[in-house]
Amino acid sequence: MTGMMVVNVHASDLKTGAVLYKAYCTQCHGLEGDGYGVNAGYMDVQPRDHTEAKEMNARSDEDLFKAVKFGGSAVNKSVLMPSWGNNLSDDEIRSLVSYLRVLSNPEK
Ligand code: HEC
Repeated sequence: MTGMMVVNVHASDLKTGAVLYKAYCTQCHGLEGDGYGVNAGYMDVQPRDHTEAKEMNARSDEDLFKAVKFGGSAVNKSVLMPSWGNNLSDDEIRSLVSYLRVLSNPEK
């Protein structure tokens, strides 16, 4: 019973992450998360390809959380990656991190 509840929480987390990603991230990172959003052509620094497993797996959850909450500059990346801490709760950001892991490891 407990196991099932954990699975359910995880699944709804991912759903939240997917919805938030569509709403806030795809214009730069692309509908498929591959870095080719409609804004990407106008940017000096290319948005990270979130489907690139090798790069993404080199980041800890903490790194990804910090990048989203505090923006690119918090993880020595471009300021073109905005900070979302004023718009999204920590739980919402955690759900986005879970979703990023699915984007980069779709077979899991
Ligand atoms: C205005 C365009 C823009 C939007 C919107 C945006 N990003 Fe980014 N993001 C970028 C750029 C550009 C980079 C690459 C920064 C670099 O490589 O220096 C980046 C990098 C990142 C990284 C760091 C990846 C790494 O290499 O460690 C994460 C994580 C990330 N974005 C997640 C998100 C999430 C989640 C959202 C939605 C809440 C989002 N981004 C919305 C432009 C954007």
